Amino acid sequence: MKPAIVMSRLCLLCLISPIGPINMLSSASGGKRIHRSLVEQASRTAKPRSNPFDGQERHIQAGAKLFAGECAACHGENGAGGLSPAPPLRQTEVRQAAPGTLFWILRNGSLPRGMPSFAHLPEQQRWQIITYLKEL
Ligand code: HEC
Repeated sequence: MKPAIVMSRLCLLCLISPIGPINMLSSASGGKRIHRSLVEQASRTAKPRSNPFDGQERHIQAGAKLFAGECAACHGENGAGGLSPAPPLRQTEVRQAAPGTLFWILRNGSLPRGMPSFAHLPEQQRWQIITYLKEL
């Protein structure tokens, strides 16, 4: 399947996910989060890991490209926020998240909440995306 098709199916999935409307409602009511954020939830389960590419320019650039292709459709260009219920990724909680937590999120996703798994990407590419996330 072409990536564009996969992406549109995934987005469809997040639109029809039962949590979607609840999430939209919660952001409509003053932006307060009723449920725990995925970062917070994942940090309880994720093992500590260190990012092999942390802060390395070459990998930030590679991560930016991957982000544009894999994530921007939901999280917006440069993670500035996009299609509800996907939250903006340019935010303190994501910037301060442990690398192991972000790695856990990309590996497992949270389909019921509308966030797909990216376990199909090589581990190296997932670390490049995480390296980029830290620079948002
Ligand atoms: C199909 C739409 C979609 C795509 C594509 C997508 N996400 Fe998400 N993502 C979501 C949704 C929806 C959530 C919110 C889940 C929640 O809060 O319950 C989320 C949550 C997250 C979170 C947790 C944010 C927080 O505040 O807790 C991170 C980090 C994240 N995504 C990173 C990524 C990265 C990196 C990519 C690309 C590799 C990506 N996402 C691709 C829909 C998507």
